[in-house]
Amino acid sequence: MKAVICTQYGPPEVLQIKEVKKPNPKDNEVLIKVYATTAHIGDTRIRRFDPFLVRLMFGLFKPKKNLILGLEISGVIESVGKNVKSFKKDDKVFALTGFGLGGYAEYKCLPEKVNEGTQQRKGLVALKPENLSYEEAATIPAGGLTALKNLQKANIRDGQKILINGASGSLGTYAIQLAKYYGSEVTAVCSSKNIELVKSIGADKVIDYTEEDFTKTDDKYDIVYDAVMKSKHAHCRRLLKKNGVFVNNSRLPKIEEEDLLFLRDLIERNKLKPILDRTYSIDDIVEAHRYVDNGHKKGNVAITVYEQ
Ligand SMILES: NC(=O)c1ccc[n+]([C@@H]2O[C@H](COP(=O)([O-])OP(=O)(O)OC[C@H]3O[C@@H](n4cnc5c(N)ncnc54)[C@H](OP(=O)(O)O)[C@@H]3O)[C@@H](O)[C@H]2O)c1
Repeated sequence: MKAVICTQYGPPEVLQIKEVKKPNPKDNEVLIKVYATTAHIGDTRIRRFDPFLVRLMFGLFKPKKNLILGLEISGVIESVGKNVKSFKKDDKVFALTGFGLGGYAEYKCLPEKVNEGTQQRKGLVALKPENLSYEEAATIPAGGLTALKNLQKANIRDGQKILINGASGSLGTYAIQLAKYYGSEVTAVCSSKNIELVKSIGADKVIDYTEEDFTKTDDKYDIVYDAVMKSKHAHCRRLLKKNGVFVNNSRLPKIEEEDLLFLRDLIERNKLKPILDRTYSIDDIVEAHRYVDNGHKKGNVAITVYEQ
């Protein structure tokens, strides 16, 4: 099968399309024909070798042989192992591949179910939201789940005030919509060019970071979510109400199958939609990573693997 191999750590050009062996599902696995994946910031960070720990997981001096990036996928079940009960051939699915990665390929095997707490490593599969394209659906599993779990960690509730920094990025655009779903008043921090976007998905107030330093505002918040990791708790402390909470993405949240199903339900009820900035063909993966490396995408960048 065709796959994108991360041949070294470095610039986007280290990604090379090669032929590798098509995987076979084990008894407890499904084989997914990948229709779409994403240029997720996590993929670009592994490729760039950032942070240092990445080397420990994926190869100390160079990536392990035939390392295939791709944290998120959407596609169709091609076959199932003999013990698989919850999926069948031709089911349309979306999935987190986890740190087994492997989304930048024509096929990916994932376990039907994984043991509690191991999802980050082993992935998660669910039926795809019916009202999304494969490209849109592929952008949900990592970004959507991370934003959801961080807001839940902050114990978001009806009637709260939340400030979201980095509101125009992948996590930010999910966080705005989820915070509105939970009944919060949202102040979004973004640049001038993204003000209309963040308002269109529910932001009540906007701070333009090119005009104003949000940490100097006199308003107080129940939650400050630094979705883009450009600030620090110490700088945001004065924005927090008594018992207010600061969250960022410094710890990977523990995720469960029910979280992905919850997001699917919100999407199918039109309470949540992924923002898709651009879509590239898998043949243009280098260009896609170069675009994400710039740090100015709006929402998400999808990759078409199989053109329907
Ligand atoms: N996405 C995930 O699932 C995930 C999971 C775990 C951790 N993380 C980490 O969380 C961070 C954000 O991830 P992401 O995927 O949301 O990033 P992203 O989509 O690449 O963020 C880009 C967005 O951030 C905005 N931005 C850049 N500098 C800003 C600043 N100083 N203030 C406010 N907004 C700014 C950009 O808007 P402008 O063009 O206007 O500057 C752009 O829209 C990264 O450090 C990532 O490694 C992400």
